[in-house]
Formats: sequence, C-alpha cells, structure tokens
Amino acid sequence: MIHVSHLTKMYGPRTAVNDLSFDIQKGEIVGFLGPNGAGKSTTMKILTGFMPATDGKVTVAGFDVFTQAIDVKRNVGYLPETPPVYLEMSVEDYLDYAARLHQVPSAQLKSSVSSALEKTDLGSVRSRLIGNLSKGYRQRVGLAQALVHNPQVLILDEPTVGLDPKQIIEIRELIKGLAGDHTVILSSHILPEVTATCQRIIVISKGRIVAEDTIERLTTRLNKGLIYSMTVRTPHPAGITLMRTLPGIASVTATGPKLVVEIQPGVSEVRDQIVSTAVNQGMGVLEFSAEKVSLEEIFLQLTTEENVPAQAGKKDGATV
Ligand SMILES: Nc1ncnc2c1ncn2[C@@H]1O[C@H](COP(=O)(O)OP(=O)(O)O)[C@@H](O)[C@H]1O
Ligand SMILES: [Mg+2]
Repeated sequence: MIHVSHLTKMYGPRTAVNDLSFDIQKGEIVGFLGPNGAGKSTTMKILTGFMPATDGKVTVAGFDVFTQAIDVKRNVGYLPETPPVYLEMSVEDYLDYAARLHQVPSAQLKSSVSSALEKTDLGSVRSRLIGNLSKGYRQRVGLAQALVHNPQVLILDEPTVGLDPKQIIEIRELIKGLAGDHTVILSSHILPEVTATCQRIIVISKGRIVAEDTIERLTTRLNKGLIYSMTVRTPHPAGITLMRTLPGIASVTATGPKLVVEIQPGVSEVRDQIVSTAVNQGMGVLEFSAEKVSLEEIFLQLTTEENVPAQAGKKDGATV
C-alpha cells in the first residue's frame, strides 16, 4: 500500500530524512518511532503529498506522490502535528468543509460526515463550536477530518500529544479500531504509544531507519542473546557445568535454585537441550521462562549506539 524507496529530504544544507526505504502492507498499523527531530513529520508530509522530497520514490495506494499528488490526497487521510481545525466552525460544518476539500461527491457529503462522526464518537457534539471543545475532542475532530473521505491510508502525526491520560487511551482505542479497514501509520516519540497501538514499528533516528520489525522480533534481535531463567529443585553443580558446555550457551549463573542461562547471539533454539540436561541430571525443573528486554532499553540502544547494525552499508550523509 505504501512503498518508500531511497527517500531523502534536505532543508537547505541540512539532511532531515536520509535514504529511507520501507514498505507498508494493506491493513497494517505501523508505528514510526523516533526522538524529536528524527524526521518523522518530514517523512509524513512527503507521504501525504504535502511536501516535495529531494530524492527518492514514494508511492501510496499505487500513486506516485510527486507526480500524482491529487490522487494520493484522495486516498490519504492526514492528521498533522497541529490539527487543522477552525475554532469558529461547528464540528459538523467543519467536517462538511473537509469532505468538500477532499472532493467527496455532493450526494455523499451527508453520509460521509455522519460516518466520520460515528467512527470518532463525535455525534453528541456535532453542532458545538470546535473552539468550545476540550483538547481531546478537538483531536477527535482532527481524526474525523482525516477520515471523512474514507481514505485507504491514514497518516497520523503524534496523534495523542498533549492529551491527558484518559484521552490518550480513548484516542488509542479509536485508532486501533480503524486498522484493518484502513492502513495506518502513526508517529510517536513515546514508546508506550507504539507498543499500545501498532503491530510493527519502524525506528528512525537522525533521518535514518535504525530498526524495523515487529515489536517481539525486534526485542529478540537486539537482545545481546536471549536469556532464559530456570528454577530447579536441586541445583547440582555437575549438571550446571554440563549445561555450560552445551552448544550455543554463553553462560549459566546459579543463585540457589535459580539459574540464569544466557544464549549466544544468533542461536535460536536451545530450550529443549537446556531443559533435558537439567532433567537428565536429576535437577528437577520447576520453572522455565524467557526474560524479555523492554523496548525502552532497545530504543535507547538504537538511538545512542554509534554503529547500528541495521541499514549498514548505505551511503553516509551528514545529518545534523
Ligand atoms: N521547515 C523546515 N526547515 C528547516 N529545517 C526543518 C524544517 N522542518 C524540520 N526541520 C528539521 O528537520 C529535522 C527533522 O524534523 P521533523 O521531521 O520535524 O522531525 P520529527 O517529526 O521526528 O520531530 C529536524 O532537524 C528539524 O529541525
Ligand atoms: Mg514531528
């Protein structure tokens, strides 16, 4: 549904987006994660056809954003960082206006507005002035204008920024409900945001992709090696020594009945061997589980380490 190939954007001498390539399939909900200044908003503006790129190719719903920007806009709903709402308009009038801007045929205006009001649960405030609504409701109006022409693709730039915790939960639920029918990209500089709503994340730092995967696989890949913890009935030293000699095991640390087994990076499946060694040595396995590294830690690694493995071999450019 979205193909981005070698996308670069310079603001004068400054590289904001540096050789980005990624694909997003129909119905996916993908998080664009990165610290402030990473290039998220810039990428989104280009994907929506609002801003030209310096280099690269982008197609959205089969249309080239540079040569077919009008077709792209018809198929994309965009919620910019600052929602483009008119405070002096009523919710309903504003959505009608947004629908006309998106060239919704006049016969369908009424039903399009009703459907957007319903999806964003704004029916009860339809005739209120936007200026009199709370920030959470205004954000919903922003979402409603992105949806009003029933686009295939939704691009949401930091959709929960500035909202209170209750509003954040409501907006997240709303966005999750939209996935499937729509392909959604949302950006965030906050981890819980993407873990709460997205199936896949693209981590971006200084204009480059530093990681791209499902949250689960990213955790595994970036971990220094998987770690399993095991509780045994009798921690026989001979059994522990034998376990250390198993192929793929980096270390085994025993603290009383609790063993921590670190696996060498790149080794995928050694659980059977670990457990059967413990059983055969008469240690008695009471508990066995994988320790998860939090995405917070990964993100810190991703954005602070100099030699990031992902996207290696791409040409270097100055990013400020
Ligand atoms: N209109 C602009 N002119 C010059 N530099 C800009 C402009 N917009 C953004 N930048 C710079 O481009 C980089 C990426 O910005 P942005 O895309 O807004 O990042 P993010 O949305 O991830 O915070 C930043 O260094 C920012 O200062
Ligand atoms: Mg931004």
